[in-house]
Amino acid sequence: MSAEEKILELVDVYKTFDDLTVLKGCNLRVKKKETVVLIGPSGSGKSTLLRCINLLEPPSKGSVVFEGHEVSGDLRGADKLRRDIGMVFQNFELFQHLSAVENIMLAPMKVLGMSKADAHDLGLELLRKVHIPERADHFPDELSGGQQQRVAIARALAMRPKIMLYDEPTSALDPEMIREVLDVMTELSNEGMTTVCVTHEMGFARRAADRIVFMEDGCILEDAATEEFFGGRANERAQKFLSQILH
Ligand SMILES: Nc1ncnc2c1ncn2[C@@H]1O[C@H](COP(=O)(O)OP(=O)(O)O)[C@@H](O)[C@H]1O
Ligand SMILES: [Mg+2]
Repeated sequence: MSAEEKILELVDVYKTFDDLTVLKGCNLRVKKKETVVLIGPSGSGKSTLLRCINLLEPPSKGSVVFEGHEVSGDLRGADKLRRDIGMVFQNFELFQHLSAVENIMLAPMKVLGMSKADAHDLGLELLRKVHIPERADHFPDELSGGQQQRVAIARALAMRPKIMLYDEPTSALDPEMIREVLDVMTELSNEGMTTVCVTHEMGFARRAADRIVFMEDGCILEDAATEEFFGGRANERAQKFLSQILH
């Protein structure tokens, strides 16, 4: 992989909370435009790994390299890094007192100094992108879970991120709403958005992912091209996990 192709690298990342070591030397490389799906049992460290990428959790040891620069050494750069990395959580985490479009407008106005009119235009453009422009003036409690999660995706996109991170974005949704969120994520991925996504939606993984990474007990045990992973060439532990979540 050439230096230009690579946008993100985790090098021997450890994370310890008090005396609990949650990440035990994780290495991960992500190329521009690549979509990586991260799977593994509950408690294996997936969320922690994702949070280390944008330094919401600074690694205890090892480094995070973004666009060729080590960003984990000096946390003063973390705010800038987080502008370049959009994150979407399981529980949407929208501002309840703001409408859909206002949720999207907030960061561009506050952080980028965008005018209210421009931020509003951007908000509507992004709501069109996630297929709910007609919901612009609705508040989160007037939206379905699937709509709220799409507003959260639009809000993350408002900062024009270079990578999108998703942490189980459909786990809190009723089954009939999962597809509309995964479809938006798939469209973004197909447009070339670099993506790292924790999910157990294997249909999405097959459709959208270039690689599947399997974690267990703080370690990355498998990192394989999607066809290889689903073609039965994943290691035994990953295969077993896959059969558990598919059945
Ligand atoms: N802030 C924290 N303080 C202490 N322990 C934590 C913290 N965050 C996560 N952990 C622990 O780290 C382990 C991995 O958690 P997590 O990364 O959330 O796993 P996953 O997302 O794969 O379910 C768990 O044992 C969890 O309890
Ligand atoms: Mg998690």
